[in-house]
Amino acid sequence: MSRVNGSGSQDPHVEVSRVRLRFGSREVFRDLSCDFPRGAISIVMGGSGAGKSTLLRLIGGLLRPDAGEITVGGDRTSGTSPAEVLRARRRLGMLFQNGALLDSMSIFENVALPLREHTENGEAEIAERVSARLASVGLEGVEALLPRELSGGMLRRAALARAIVMDPEIVLCDEPFSGLDPPNVARIEELLRDLNRSRGLTLIVSSHHIASSLRLADQLVLLQGGASICGDPGELSESHDPRITEFLGADARAHVALRAAAEAKA
Ligand SMILES: Nc1ncnc2c1ncn2[C@@H]1O[C@H](COP(=O)(O)OP(=O)(O)OP(=O)(O)O)[C@@H](O)[C@H]1O
Ligand SMILES: [Mg+2]
Repeated sequence: MSRVNGSGSQDPHVEVSRVRLRFGSREVFRDLSCDFPRGAISIVMGGSGAGKSTLLRLIGGLLRPDAGEITVGGDRTSGTSPAEVLRARRRLGMLFQNGALLDSMSIFENVALPLREHTENGEAEIAERVSARLASVGLEGVEALLPRELSGGMLRRAALARAIVMDPEIVLCDEPFSGLDPPNVARIEELLRDLNRSRGLTLIVSSHHIASSLRLADQLVLLQGGASICGDPGELSESHDPRITEFLGADARAHVALRAAAEAKA
């Protein structure tokens, strides 16, 4: 891994080590290593096609690397032991790119789905858990509605409720801000921050949205050329490494400068 300040993570919750992956002739990861610290918000950035969704799918055990290792809480999702992969997956909740709620099912049934698949919970327990998780993302009274009856921002929050319904330790969010207007971006940002603080969740979020990434991130992971560069937002935005400055651009510097100025005043 390339770290801007040269230090590794103290308490990695997810470790990606020397991963190589190709799809046919397309090499997505050449030598990818990065740690995702426990209880931190890590934002994975990179241009379209850089491999953000692929990295989240590798961590979630939905894809296997050609070489290298991925561990989630010490269990390998890159391994061949189904019991180990299952243990790792139980620690994870996933919010997929574009939400991916099932159109023909009510919001209640969509959020209840992981509980029905992976637990022996009875109906009363399921109903209570689903309503509590919907309330925690600011959705009440929508249980009976179909996904098409919700706005884009509400749908994203319902998908987030589904991702946390099993009380995971880690949530993988693929582009949670895409296609949302600024008030909804702010709302999702606030929810993610709240989940991280109140439940100590480790969040691994892919995003194109530079301003919200800089506001949220404890760690940024920039994917480029099949490898990664990690650092905190301040480190990355002050770096003179051309791979970083080209990607982050003037926005990042301006934002960090503004934040530093605001903190100095407070
Ligand atoms: N199942 C697959 N089969 C073949 N190629 C794939 C597959 N999944 C991803 N790819 C390729 O891998 C590369 C990385 O794709 P990925 O979807 O991870 O990018 P991304 O960074 O998430 O992009 P975006 O910002 O557009 O969501 C792309 O070149 C893509 O075409
Ligand atoms: Mg993607």
